[in-house]
This record gives sequence, structure tokens and C-alpha cells, in this order.
Amino acid sequence: EGLLAGAKPLAGRKAIVTSGPTHEPIDPVRYIANRSSGKQGHAIAAALARLGADVTLVCGPVAIPDPAGVQLVRVERAAEMRDAVVAALPADVAVMVAAVADWRVASAAGNKIKKRPGEAPPPLQLAENPDILKTIGHHASRPKLVIGFAAETENVAENGRAKLERKGADYIVANDVSPATGIMGGDRNRVKLIARDGIEEWPEMGKDDVADKLAALIAAKLLS
Ligand code: CTP
Ligand code: CA
Repeated sequence: EGLLAGAKPLAGRKAIVTSGPTHEPIDPVRYIANRSSGKQGHAIAAALARLGADVTLVCGPVAIPDPAGVQLVRVERAAEMRDAVVAALPADVAVMVAAVADWRVASAAGNKIKKRPGEAPPPLQLAENPDILKTIGHHASRPKLVIGFAAETENVAENGRAKLERKGADYIVANDVSPATGIMGGDRNRVKLIARDGIEEWPEMGKDDVADKLAALIAAKLLS
């Protein structure tokens, strides 16, 4: 993008990135989770740091190494992730990559739920979690650039576009997470970059390359 190799175009700029799944407790020993590995979010945090940004990475429980050069905030639940992201404001750019659980258990049990012979299984009552991207997209201290992801298994472009509007994002990076794509948990990704004025289809590439391409776009936008 015309940037010199080794240059730090994001020096002095602050970035917030979310990554990984969230875990929503059912009781002290059980939780609701999803298949997010954290690979794409961690790669984006590392790519922004390589361009010189001061990066706060708020991440849910993951089993991958910590990226170099970022400030890591570890959380478990969506509500904790929201609090950590809001506490990290102000920022120049926010990239919300985490697969935030849409629902939590309405009231997690304080003690391990026991089987009761002869009785029906316990019902799980769910409550909707806060939408972190939407909170940031409409925040009084909204970063100049707000970028979300959209995990879809059908109608990827249409659903991604609707999320852009609803959540007040500048870009949505939409991907097809159907099991057959191998994207969830894998090392490669194929995304559509959705903006207000159109959609760009990126070829399939490694998650590290998606991260570098997105970081370059962020640098170009913030410096323009
Ligand atoms: N997101 C968020 N907080 C939530 C849910 C989602 O910040 N509670 C963010 C994700 O990090 C992602 C974007 O919103 O950047 C889209 O997430 P996605 O799960 O695709 O969208 P939802 O709005 O949850 O819609 P649905 O799961 O029903 O498709
Ligand atoms: Ca969701």
C-alpha cells in the first residue's frame, strides 16, 4: 500500500481488538461456548502491533499463544468482555473479532447442578448478552474506525451488510463459517470486506495474511 517495509504508520495510535469465544457459565463447572479458536483476532492484534499501534487485546478463553507486543486482557464472559473494551476507550480503531456468545444462562447456579433421579433434566433459561460491537459503534467515545466481523453460514453478503448498519460499523469482514469451509478453527480464511459503498471479495489466504491486509487498510484509513 505504498508503506515502507519496517515503517510504523500506526505509531502513537491506539487499537482495541477482541478475540476468541466467550464462556457463559451454567454452574461452577459447566459453560456454554463456541468453536472460535482466536486465531484471526490474535493475528489482527499482532499485525496492528507490527505497524506500531498501541494494542489492547481483549480475549476470551483460547488455547493459542499470546501475540507479541500487545496488552492482553483476559476475560471469560461477554459482560466482562464488554466492560474491558469500554474501559480501554478511547481508541483510534476497534476491531471486534470475538465470537461473543449471543446468550448467557439467565441465572447461573452457585453450586454444581446435581442429577435428580426420576426428575426431568434441568431447563436452561437464556438471556441475551450485550452487543459489544453495537455498543462501541454508537458510543460517545466512538473510535474513528469501527470494524466488525460477521460469522454466517448463509446469505453472507446480505447478512453482513445488515450488521454493518445495525451496529454502526465502518466495515464488516464477513465470512462463511459453515463446517465444510474449515474456517472456524482453521488457519485459512476467505472473507468479503463490506463497506457502506460496496463489497470487496478477498481471495482465500492465511489468517495472518488477512490480518496484514486489514491492518494495512486500517493504517491507510487512519492516515487519510
Ligand atoms: N458481537 C459483539 N457482541 C455480541 C455479538 C456479536 O460484539 N454480543 C460482534 C462480533 O464480535 C462481530 C459482530 O458483532 O464483530 C457480528 O457477530 P455475529 O455473531 O456475526 O452477529 P450477531 O449480531 O450476534 O448476529 P447472529 O449471531 O444472530 O448472526
Ligand atoms: Ca452472534
